[in-house]
Amino acid sequence: MYNEVLEKTLITEEQIQKRVTELAKQIEKDYAGKAPIIVGVLKGSVLFYTDLIRQIDLPLTVDFMSISSYGAGVNSSGEVKIIKDIDGKIGGKDVIIVEDIVDSGYSMNCLLKLFGTRSPKSVKVCALLDKPSRREVPVKIDYTGFQVANEFVVGYGLDYDGLYRNIPFIGVLKKEVYEK
Ligand code: IMP
Ligand code: MG
Repeated sequence: MYNEVLEKTLITEEQIQKRVTELAKQIEKDYAGKAPIIVGVLKGSVLFYTDLIRQIDLPLTVDFMSISSYGAGVNSSGEVKIIKDIDGKIGGKDVIIVEDIVDSGYSMNCLLKLFGTRSPKSVKVCALLDKPSRREVPVKIDYTGFQVANEFVVGYGLDYDGLYRNIPFIGVLKKEVYEK
């Protein structure tokens, strides 16, 4: 099935796991003695999130947020809707937001603004992928897995129209899949 929709493999499972371990160990070091809340942005970050937190040896807690994405398209509208907020309070806490990809930056910018109103002690961003060429609003990413070019990618949690999240690696979607 993958071969029919993918133009090429961009990042292999091995490359992903190696990088995830590096990020986890960096976070572990930076947050030594702390108990951060790791906020996963549903649904795209789920595979990355579960791999990442398993390798962070800290007394962390988990929470999740769901925000609107592109629907069936490949371009952000600039409007971000909160579908599900986190359950816990972040006042006075160290927060790490885990996202699949920062593209236009609208989603992360909105989350950072929202969290900023809740008086956390600190907020950092961990994104598996960064597509800087598409940025429309500036976002500071503290932990980046990989930078990618301006291509639409799927797999390892990332979807197109809800599909392909379960592909275990990251691939470039064939243009004909989203242009038809
Ligand atoms: P932004 O608000 O434009 O930064 O968009 C971020 C969201 O768009 C991500 O969390 C993804 O859900 C989605 N997205 C952006 N680029 C891609 C891509 O190449 N593949 C799959 N989803 C993407
Ligand atoms: Mg997303």
